Amino acid sequence: PKPPLVVVGSANADIYVEIDRLPLQGETISAKTGQTLAGGKGANQAVCSGKLDYPTFFVGQVGEDAHGKLVVGALEDGGVGVDYLSVVSDAPTGHAVVMLQPDGQNSIIIVGGANMSCWPERLGEGGLEVVRNAGIVLLQREIPDFVNIQVAKEAHRSGVPVILDAGGADGPVPSELLNFVDILSPNETELARLTGLPTENFEQISKAVDKCHKLGVDKVLVKLGAKGSALFIKGKEPIKQPIISASKVLDTTGAGDTFTAAFAIALVEGKPERECMKFAAAAASLCVQVKGAIPSMPDRKSVLDLLQSV
Ligand code: RIB
Repeated sequence: PKPPLVVVGSANADIYVEIDRLPLQGETISAKTGQTLAGGKGANQAVCSGKLDYPTFFVGQVGEDAHGKLVVGALEDGGVGVDYLSVVSDAPTGHAVVMLQPDGQNSIIIVGGANMSCWPERLGEGGLEVVRNAGIVLLQREIPDFVNIQVAKEAHRSGVPVILDAGGADGPVPSELLNFVDILSPNETELARLTGLPTENFEQISKAVDKCHKLGVDKVLVKLGAKGSALFIKGKEPIKQPIISASKVLDTTGAGDTFTAAFAIALVEGKPERECMKFAAAAASLCVQVKGAIPSMPDRKSVLDLLQSV
């Protein structure tokens, strides 16, 4: 059997509001539509992996509430194992307000809830064991750093590769965490935030990546939105992958999560890095054509069909 992809991370209820523009200060505006969908960077990445037909476990926390049930249901529907997900009684499920704008772009505010509180000092043995036996572990920054450090350390000790998606909290990444990360995956904004350097063009991005290399991460996978992605491996030429263009961009929410998870699966399946990036670009291209994060995750056949057609 394939060693599973394990996500330790956040689960949110995404409160979607579709607006023509962001409100000005002191202004009240009406949304065109509003709905609540399952999301959270951790859950998104787990469902993406499950839908791409890779054995997946999600380790995280939700509250004892309707939002928790929504996310757990979405994880289960996506084929994700939730054996190590905890339902906590002292915090509500995390949520996010997703402000979706006409060009498919979004602005998101997250409320941590159970993602950020009530974690035990040490994860249960079951959770740690699934990490040790994983083929690859995915982390993001919407749960406490101490949990990420514990998981990354455990994975690293067992020789399991760790990808840290830099999305989520805007504070600095603890250097202890970076020590155990094999691939760091920021977008341009997160890369700027992480390094304190500008990332407006490729040259600036390369310099910012150099700083990450100096911080101890040899592989940096930068997501560049409409400009595609680039994988920087210390001492080598960067591998660039343009986007696989979508006929319509309805909603970019979850596209970064889709990219990271699809890349991780291709990697653990043994594909060369260039192919992993292409596979991830195809998955992300399909994701932006459907509204919602989890509802927009493609299945493997759709990704393979798209790759055949380009
Ligand atoms: O990456 C998109 C996700 O960010 C949303 O689903 C939202 O919940 C936030 O975690």
